[in-house]
Amino acid sequence: RWVFLNGEYKRKSEAMISVFDHGFLYGDGVFEGIRVYSGNVFRLHEHMVRLYESAKSILLDIPYSLDELEAHVVETVRKNQLVDAYIRLVVSRGDGPLGLDPSECEIANVVIIVDKIRLYSQELYDKGLTVVTVPTRRNIPDALNPRVKSLNYLNNILAKSEAKQAGAGEAIILSSDGYVTEGSSDNIFMVKDNVLYTPPCYLGALKGITRQTIIDIAGELGYPLKEEPFTRHDLFNADEVLLTGTGAEVISVVQVDGRSVGKGVPGPVSKDLISQFRKLVT
Ligand code: PDD
Repeated sequence: RWVFLNGEYKRKSEAMISVFDHGFLYGDGVFEGIRVYSGNVFRLHEHMVRLYESAKSILLDIPYSLDELEAHVVETVRKNQLVDAYIRLVVSRGDGPLGLDPSECEIANVVIIVDKIRLYSQELYDKGLTVVTVPTRRNIPDALNPRVKSLNYLNNILAKSEAKQAGAGEAIILSSDGYVTEGSSDNIFMVKDNVLYTPPCYLGALKGITRQTIIDIAGELGYPLKEEPFTRHDLFNADEVLLTGTGAEVISVVQVDGRSVGKGVPGPVSKDLISQFRKLVT
């Protein structure tokens, strides 16, 4: 495996950053998770736009233009000769003295990793996932807007571990008003009477690229889509629930907080959306 590190390619075992990197010390940085399907980097430009938006939001200067960094991503995929892969593109604040002040870091560290990823077993894609809502909340007044894909993933990590401790596969995070926002690393949709619903991102969700892909596919397939707030009660009484994310792709949810969704198996609309998604990416 070759890793892109600050303009050079390093072997996986030699790709090192300093312990004074502020991404390592304070989670000060942004990242993207991107998929490669049959050699094609899926929605790369959309991911790059989001990366630069996240960086701008935290006053982080990326030492490449968007087009330059986009080209480095494509190069790194080619150099690793992987046709199906997952890209982790990371931009940290860079090396600096101890202390939070980001202005003390001279230049960002830029890392491009290309590897394999498997978030859920094939069985879970076939049978559907069990999820729980967790005490972790998305609070918009926080300094860090959930729209920013930052290295600050402890909220998400703790939510995921709460789900695991409850014997569930994924955690659903609620807003402080109790509206459903998203999963620990994926967006959420529900189906009711053949209408698709997904939370508006302003509730506290990442503007997912797979979410947008499913919105586009729903339009093509003629399913009405409503971006509006909904609660756990709506989820319990949905006909279908599904999660979307670059790592997760599209996966059916068949149980929420112990309530089975619909007939407790992946539903017809989810299957329709998933088969269209698979056609689109391969
Ligand atoms: N990110 N919400 C959160 C908090 C996420 O971390 C992710 C995906 C998503 C889905 O966004 P997208 O469809 O653009 O990937 C939503 C992980 C790291 C990933 O799947 O790469």
